[in-house]
Amino acid sequence: MDNRRNLQIYRWWALIYDRWVPLLYGRARRRAIALLDLRPGERLLIPGVGTGLDLPRIPPQVSVVGADLSPHMLARAAPKAAGRDVRLLFMDVQALGFRQASFDALLFNLILTVVPDGAAAFREGWRVLKPGGRAVIFDKFLPEGAALTARRRALGRLLMGVGTDPNRRLSEILDGVAGMTVERDEPILLRGHFRVLLLRKAPA
Ligand SMILES: C[S@@+](CC[C@H](N)C(=O)[O-])C[C@H]1O[C@@H](n2cnc3c(N)ncnc32)[C@H](O)[C@@H]1O
Repeated sequence: MDNRRNLQIYRWWALIYDRWVPLLYGRARRRAIALLDLRPGERLLIPGVGTGLDLPRIPPQVSVVGADLSPHMLARAAPKAAGRDVRLLFMDVQALGFRQASFDALLFNLILTVVPDGAAAFREGWRVLKPGGRAVIFDKFLPEGAALTARRRALGRLLMGVGTDPNRRLSEILDGVAGMTVERDEPILLRGHFRVLLLRKAPA
């Protein structure tokens, strides 16, 4: 996966994303946002906001920043942000343009297995999260005990062609992140290949 290739792929996805993706992930998305337990006045960052499918489910008193690399996906998000405290930014989430401790919460839905370097994207989010803040991840990962077989590699090549890598291990993405507690880790789809996790950053 690289940014240039993702730009091409998500230009195409933007045309059909809102028609098909809600059918697959509606329940998981609801659970991810419920776990964040957002409160009025909080600041939420959504790295890789895409077409903004999360936005209608975020409480209106929450201030949201959605960052994405694809202008075509962001264009689809814009109507969902209208009249709300939502800023949509063209930005590579592997190198965020925010100061540390800028946000109360992070929502990583279907992004850590899309960006070229999922670990870098997570570390950047963690950097800009306030002490005591929380992050939710909803995504599919290679189960920790599972071998990367020839079949899985072939599936990986296929899915990378449509913009996502099913063969990343969450443990490798989170490796070395300091001050993190996993408060929830729930299987949500496809016999636990898709998970929803709630992570908390240690208070200052
Ligand atoms: C599978 S979509 C997920 C969108 C949204 N989070 C959702 O749950 O529907 C992945 C998104 O990541 C974006 N993306 C890919 N690489 C990126 C990068 N380096 N920085 C920011 N966004 C990126 C794509 O443009 C796309 O909108």
